[in-house]
Amino acid sequence: MSSPIILAIESSCDDTSAAVMVGGEIRANVVATQQVHEQYGGVVPELASRAHQQHLIPVVQEAMRRAKVAKEEIDAVAFTQGPGLLGSLLVGGMFAKTFALALGKPLIAVNHMRAHILAHFIKDPKPSFPFLCLTVSGGHTQLVVVRSPMHMEIIGQTIDDAAGEAFDKTAKLLGLPYPGGPHLDKLARTGNPLRFSFPVGAMAGYDFSFSGLKTAVLYFLRQQTAQDAAFIQNNLADLCASIQHTIIQTLLRQLTRAATDQELTQVALAGGVAANSGLRAALQDLAGEKGWQVFIPDFEFCTDNAAMVAMTGHFQYEAGDFASQLVSPDPRLKL
Ligand code: KG4
Ligand code: ZN
Repeated sequence: MSSPIILAIESSCDDTSAAVMVGGEIRANVVATQQVHEQYGGVVPELASRAHQQHLIPVVQEAMRRAKVAKEEIDAVAFTQGPGLLGSLLVGGMFAKTFALALGKPLIAVNHMRAHILAHFIKDPKPSFPFLCLTVSGGHTQLVVVRSPMHMEIIGQTIDDAAGEAFDKTAKLLGLPYPGGPHLDKLARTGNPLRFSFPVGAMAGYDFSFSGLKTAVLYFLRQQTAQDAAFIQNNLADLCASIQHTIIQTLLRQLTRAATDQELTQVALAGGVAANSGLRAALQDLAGEKGWQVFIPDFEFCTDNAAMVAMTGHFQYEAGDFASQLVSPDPRLKL
């Protein structure tokens, strides 16, 4: 019971991923990213599910090959039940159910947001319970008090756009390719973060709001480019640095408030935006000041991946938390 072999599938958005975990260790984590969405400047759900159909079997085969695991050896099949895009979730879910049925093995339904948080347990250093996790991705922004692998409480979240969307949408206004977050991050490194000032979307309590930033940037750019058509081009690094600074301020203001009120000194970052170099550096500085311990998983385990689904599946396996063949995807699955 203690060293199961788990095959995990992640297909909630636009990354098709399979991982194999043996006795709590990740042996393989294969991710096929979908390039097809770039030309549309955002994820097109119908194209995402079609691409999952094309990628899934080769990705699973590759993960099993790298892990040197035969299908007969698999003890359980874990998959992302939600939240995510319905069509995308259906492809991974149907595959997992069929495979588990054919193998006669149990099925484990995993919550994608829980998996982002439990990615911290893939490798050392691991936080101990309880800790505070800021999950920042293209679809979510949540402040979560993590009491155990199965007990988590969302104490703050975005009331509109996610932090990743704030990066991607403002980057689009600056003419950067999709997804804009990493491009904006790179350009921000040489810019002045205090040159332009935009509204910080920290609400009462621990909630976030990013739609005001996008609108403020849109109106500001309209006004400036009406006077100088080359304004964006001539001020790109400062614009990126100032936008990034505003997003980081918003995130860290709420994180600080929550950590202080909840008396938590272990602070973790999860989700794709945890890759942002400015956020990582600012959090490390803040942690030095506050005496916090900071946890940020390797980039591979921050963006969407099946290793985090396998890790969560492992905890659920140990708790005997299995799903029936009647389980269905839930695009709005709650934590
Ligand atoms: O977790 P993730 O891979 O997918 C979702 O579940 O959404 O996160 C993707 C998001 C995108 O919005 C992307 O622009 C953002 O993470 N991102 C970044 C950086 N790398 C990825 N945002 C800012 N700076 C980065 N370096
Ligand atoms: Zn995600």
